[in-house]
Amino acid sequence: MKNFNFQAATNILFGKGQIEKLVDVLAPFGKNVLLTYGGGSIKRNGLYADIQEKLGSEFNVIELAGIEPNPRLETVKKGVSLCREHKIDVILAVGGGSTIDCSKAISAGTFYEGNPWDFTNDSSLVGETLPIVSILTIAATGSEMNGGSVITNLETKEKLSFGSRDLAPKVSILDPSYTFSVPKYQTMAGSADILSHLFENYFNQTTDTMVQDGIAEGLMRTVYHYTPLVLENPEDYEARANLMWASSLALNGLTGSGKAGIWSCHGMEHELSAYYDITHGIGLAIITPRWMKYCLNEKTVGKFAEFGHRVFDIEKTNNQMLMAEKAIELTYQSFKSWGIPMTLGEVGIDDSLLDEMASQTVKHKTMDQGTFVPLTQKDILAIFTDSLVEMY
Ligand code: NZQ
Ligand code: ZN
Repeated sequence: MKNFNFQAATNILFGKGQIEKLVDVLAPFGKNVLLTYGGGSIKRNGLYADIQEKLGSEFNVIELAGIEPNPRLETVKKGVSLCREHKIDVILAVGGGSTIDCSKAISAGTFYEGNPWDFTNDSSLVGETLPIVSILTIAATGSEMNGGSVITNLETKEKLSFGSRDLAPKVSILDPSYTFSVPKYQTMAGSADILSHLFENYFNQTTDTMVQDGIAEGLMRTVYHYTPLVLENPEDYEARANLMWASSLALNGLTGSGKAGIWSCHGMEHELSAYYDITHGIGLAIITPRWMKYCLNEKTVGKFAEFGHRVFDIEKTNNQMLMAEKAIELTYQSFKSWGIPMTLGEVGIDDSLLDEMASQTVKHKTMDQGTFVPLTQKDILAIFTDSLVEMY
């Protein structure tokens, strides 16, 4: 295990009715609030009205509505202007990863003289920040409990991340009932994203990390158990609660601390999202089993076999290769059984830009060292190409 510094900086208020504490948690930061949210789901499910009622006339609330899935740099800039103009004290981010990520960029951008896009090139440019309180409405990214942010620059067709511990929300309200209204497509995309965060840390070159890997396996089992239940009954509170908490724990440092290394599937998926504006979790579900198969070799077979045994209850035998192949097939078939479109063609991606996206992947992230299995541009192109056709 490598040395690490783990700090869970976010105060989590989890469970039904936690919004009752909103005023108490917001007030210490000040009166001027920037309320950020997405395309309107919070208006349709009643959360917006609830927030308005709680905030009453005690706060000066300025709104930034319409934050896009895969949030845009232009929207960040709009938010920065609002914060400066209205001397905002705190950002109340209500939504999913996109709203929270955009709010993080606004938070740091407010005190930065240059273009907030610069952060994606150098996170150390993040200086002073505005505090963020989040109300999470979809279980997926873990943004509610980490300092990461992913922003899209439409002009350059780039989707890149940056992060700072100071950008982790100070408080996050996690009421699973707010996720009852998440549509099926976004629910399964969210689950795929949670799993991917776990996979990215789990399939890693650092050995002897039984604590992190055991937690990850438990969280993976949780996601595999509860996702079909939620797809069947979107208002299953216990199932939604388990997915929501899994999303936060999957990417708050718990399973990644103590491990060195670079992620693989996220770098590839961010190019798909940047070029085709697809849903992050769906792109990950398509790429992941192909990546697993591509990485399967004499050196990695043990880890894939262990994953299959611990997560899918595949019987332990002397034939590790067979166990590993079965585990990869189950990874694919689980996504498919939820209803995820499992080829690039089904999400509107053909072979015309695969070369360019493979080249951009390595431009943005060096993957030929530090990843679970080193990947060159040629390997990435092969994984993209494999993603055009059904695997089984
Ligand atoms: O915009 P609204 O109308 O709110 O609708 C959203 C959006 O269309 C909808 N939705 C959310 N909560 C809902 C709901 N619809 C009905 N009822 C609710 N309760 O779901 C759609 C997707 O929302 P979004 O915020 O985009 O989803 P998600 O949480 O998956 O965030 C994805 C973004 O986060 C980035 C992704 O790349 C992507 O840009 N990521 C952020 C990470 C981080 N900060 O740590 C890590 C991840 O790996 C990821 O890259
Ligand atoms: Zn992700």
